[in-house]
Amino acid sequence: MSEKRFYIENASQFDGQTVTLKGWVYNKRSSGKIKFLMMRDGTGLMQGILFKGECSDQAFEEFEKLTQESSIEVTGTIRKDPRTPGKFEMGVQSFKAVQIADVYPISPKDHGVEFLMENRHLWIRSQKQWAALRVRAEIIRTIQQFYDEKGFVRFDAPILTPSSCEGTSTLFSTPYFDEKAYLTQSGQLYGEVGAMAFGKIYVFGPTFRAEKSKTRKHLTEFWMVEPEVAFNDLNDNMTLGEEFVEYVFQNVISKRAKELEILERDIKKLEKMKGPFPRISYDDALKVLEKRGCAIPWGEDFGAPHETALGQEFDKPVFVHHMPAQIKAFYFKQSDTVGGPGVTGNGKYALGCDLIAPDGYGEVIGGGQREENIDVLKRRIAEHGLAEADYSWYLDLRRFGSVPHSGFGLGLERTVAWITGVEHVRETIPFPRMLNTIRP
Ligand code: 4AD
Ligand code: MG
Repeated sequence: MSEKRFYIENASQFDGQTVTLKGWVYNKRSSGKIKFLMMRDGTGLMQGILFKGECSDQAFEEFEKLTQESSIEVTGTIRKDPRTPGKFEMGVQSFKAVQIADVYPISPKDHGVEFLMENRHLWIRSQKQWAALRVRAEIIRTIQQFYDEKGFVRFDAPILTPSSCEGTSTLFSTPYFDEKAYLTQSGQLYGEVGAMAFGKIYVFGPTFRAEKSKTRKHLTEFWMVEPEVAFNDLNDNMTLGEEFVEYVFQNVISKRAKELEILERDIKKLEKMKGPFPRISYDDALKVLEKRGCAIPWGEDFGAPHETALGQEFDKPVFVHHMPAQIKAFYFKQSDTVGGPGVTGNGKYALGCDLIAPDGYGEVIGGGQREENIDVLKRRIAEHGLAEADYSWYLDLRRFGSVPHSGFGLGLERTVAWITGVEHVRETIPFPRMLNTIRP
């Protein structure tokens, strides 16, 4: 690639210069002696103008053959025009069609979601999809930047695993030579290994759950970032989560303002996502739900209506902590009272903390403080019907210098949905995997 390859996003550096844009036809129209060519090159949209006389006669005629999504190399002069999408336009002198596209299935008219999902490989070229995926990439970059700047070591967990982390009901299994393996549900248990070796780490990668639920928040393959810190307690964990979410929001809205505008997202609303975030116990959350007319009995997990109600109450992300131990995974430290110290043994509450986003985007963070006592942990493994032998390496962490420690997982796609405002997580990942969706 030549060093001076022109890209639309850098147009301001080329004002007045003649350049060649390599890209695709987004759409086109003619009005008398002027023809308009909306071009895209992956970094943005730019309008090209063909004036008879200014551009070659041949180009003027060839224009007629161009179809939506034909690939093109267009040469012309860049000039300021605040009215066009990229604030710059091109006075076209000549162009070459690289390939004339067949009739493109996605036109500017409305298509049903099913059709668009079947054509996901093409749909991502559309403006809103393109913008959402650019924001996703920026969020990923920002996540890494946050932890790297704080001195966390990135620690990669395996995808093929011998045992479960988040219960056995959502495991995808696969033959692994003569054994059975599972696609990881969470890198947490490996992350704990990393925390004992490096002090503070983050796992970042794809995770898998055989979720049978068809909701706007569930994928079967999704990405999670999972920090884990030795000597952090539950409150430290919430403070880290709060700083992290604020950092991601403030950085992404400043770097991807253009994309958020395409997505018609109200940036003022996003700017308000700054700490401190309210922290309430599960017991207090039940009181809020009762007041808002959607009470649930103690011991039940929140569903979508409850998360939405909590969001409405605070208009900010809210941490819910000290959940009923009976609905949480085997690895949580427990306590008898809310706010009291953890107990060595079984308690009523798990030292968990979930961050619920406003506006119905749901639980974006799930995590908490881990049980560090080996005897308690062994008992929990048995109570949860898991085989101790599968966790012998994990139990070693409690044999050799066990310390209190905490961590959490933030779901990338739910975070992208929340920031971009898209209705469904299927639009936050290039190729969503869901119940009954594995193509393209
Ligand atoms: O609350 P979860 O299940 O927590 C864990 O997996 C912990 N082991 C993480 C940890 O402590 N290291 O999942 C964490 C987050 C959820 O809050 C949610 O944002 C996201 O992962 N998530 C999903 N996102 C999309 N589709 C699904 N099916 C998801 N399941 C969880
Ligand atoms: Mg959870």
